[in-house]
Amino acid sequence: LPVSRSDECEVLRKPKPAAPHKHSTVGHINNSLYVLSSNSRVELLNELGNGFYGTVYKALMKIPQGGVQVVAAKLCTGGIGLQDMELEFMREAETMQMVPKHPNVVDYIGYVQRDNGCGPSMILLEYASNGDLLTILRSMRHNTLQPHDMLSFALQVAQGMEHISKFNLLHRDLAARNVLVFPGKTCKISDFGQARYMARSRGEYERRSAGPLPIRWMAPESITNNTYTTKSDVWAFGILMWEIVTLGAVPYSGYGGEEVVTLVTEGRSEALLDFPADCNPAIARLARECWTRVPRDRPDFSSLAASLSALNVGGN
Ligand code: ADE
Repeated sequence: LPVSRSDECEVLRKPKPAAPHKHSTVGHINNSLYVLSSNSRVELLNELGNGFYGTVYKALMKIPQGGVQVVAAKLCTGGIGLQDMELEFMREAETMQMVPKHPNVVDYIGYVQRDNGCGPSMILLEYASNGDLLTILRSMRHNTLQPHDMLSFALQVAQGMEHISKFNLLHRDLAARNVLVFPGKTCKISDFGQARYMARSRGEYERRSAGPLPIRWMAPESITNNTYTTKSDVWAFGILMWEIVTLGAVPYSGYGGEEVVTLVTEGRSEALLDFPADCNPAIARLARECWTRVPRDRPDFSSLAASLSALNVGGN
C-alpha cells in the first residue's frame, strides 16, 4: 500500500510546482461550451491550497452575461504522469457535472481547457470564503464551539452525502479537510477527485489505480480488499464526526500509516478514538455505529441524517 509519511492525511501530498496558466481559451461554463476569447477570462488570484492532483486558486471569472464572479479554480498540476492526470481531472469534472445541485454539495461551475486544447486543465467551483472545515475546527480550539454547531456540521455533511449516495456515487475521500464552509456556517462536500460511480449491479467499486490513500478514514474492507461502497463512505463519516467533536484531532495520532492499517484491519482501531468527556453521547454512539465491522450493519446516510436532525431539533 502506498502510504505516505504524513501523519495528518496520507492522501495529500505536495505536487510539483507548476507555473499557473493565466491564459485559458476554451471553457465549459454553466453547462455550455464557452469560448473564452481574451486571455483574461479567468484570472487567478492567490493560492488556496494544494493536493496530489492539483492546486486550488481563488480566481475571478468573467461571466458570459457580463460581470465577474469569484470562483475557486482547481488546476491540474499534480504528481502523476500528465496524461493520467488530465484523465483523472476530466473524470472529476464529469463526475461533478453529473451530480444535481444540493445545498450541502459544492457547486460545480465549469471547466476550462488550456490554450493548446490538450485537455481540461481547470475546474471551476463556487468559492468558499470560510475555507475548509478542518481548519475551522482547529481555529475554534481557542473559542468555544457551540455543541449546536457541531451537530449542525455533522447533519449538513450527512445530508450532502445522502444526496450523493442517491446517485450511486461514492466519495471515497470524505474527511473534514474536504468539507468547505460558507457564510452562515453552511457546510458543503467538496473534492470529488476520488469519487466514482458504482456499478449498479454490484453496488461497489474496486479500486485499481495507484496513489496515496486516506488510510485513517478508510474502512477495513477498503484497506484489505480494495472494496468501496456507500458503507465505506459511512465509516469515513464516523471519523469525520470524531474530527468535529475533537476540534480537528488527527485520527490515531501517534501511530504511523502502516500501524493504522494493522489496527483497523484487526479491529483494534475503534478503542483508540476517544471522545471528549463533554461530547454529546448521541454523536459518539452514531460514530461508533459507523465503525461497525460488517458494512451492511452500518447505518446509511438517510438514517444518519434523520438521527442527527432529530438531535438538532432537540436544541442541544
Ligand atoms: N479550497 C479548495 N476548494 C476551495 C473552494 N472551492 N473555495 C475555497 N477554498 C477552497
